[in-house]
Amino acid sequence: MMKTNDWVFSYETEMELFKNFKLPVRSTVLKLNNGDGVMISPINFTEAEWAEIQSNLKVKHIIAPCDLHHLYVKSAKKHARDAKLWATHDLARKRNDVNWDQELLPQKWTLTDEIEIIPIGGSSTHEVAFFHKKAKTLVVTDLLFNLHNRKGVLSWIVMHMFGTWNRPAISRWFKTTIKNKNQFRMSVEKILALDFETIVMAHGDIITENAKSVFSNALRERQLI
Ligand SMILES: [Fe+2]
Repeated sequence: MMKTNDWVFSYETEMELFKNFKLPVRSTVLKLNNGDGVMISPINFTEAEWAEIQSNLKVKHIIAPCDLHHLYVKSAKKHARDAKLWATHDLARKRNDVNWDQELLPQKWTLTDEIEIIPIGGSSTHEVAFFHKKAKTLVVTDLLFNLHNRKGVLSWIVMHMFGTWNRPAISRWFKTTIKNKNQFRMSVEKILALDFETIVMAHGDIITENAKSVFSNALRERQLI
């Protein structure tokens, strides 16, 4: 477990995206004032990791934060049986084998006092970003990558294709998911107006310095703002 601050915990593993190409992937657990936990993008946790998580907080919400990060929600629900399962509108239809409790929409979200959710409009991934107010932490999934020290020629090739080799950046792949640039821009401007100092992403190293300018520079580089 990696502890970013008193409210933000995360776990990283590697997933084989395709043969011989591995990508680090992170699950983030946000803690609430009452000790409840909000798990974003569950990964294939070991039993020991589950024990560690549940000794620190009670997971009451399990979230698939976009249409792509949903593989381990059922396993997470087995370990946190009274947790509420949240999914985007489209994912809930695609994964109709899962008993989702609620759609991941600001008007349905019940934790806004502590965690704000910001849907990233215009992208076909339907990603939703999270802002833990007390921790001043932004949690994103595929919106921003920050991959360093990746090994192997294939990583080198793929990360150069993505435009995300050894630096924080919005991948060219993510850019192709943006179908409505105005909607996207309105969403990221909402994010830039938030008071965050840390960015935790699903793929890459957590950013704790100049987080806001790192994010706005990445958007500017792809001409998205
Ligand atoms: Fe991803």
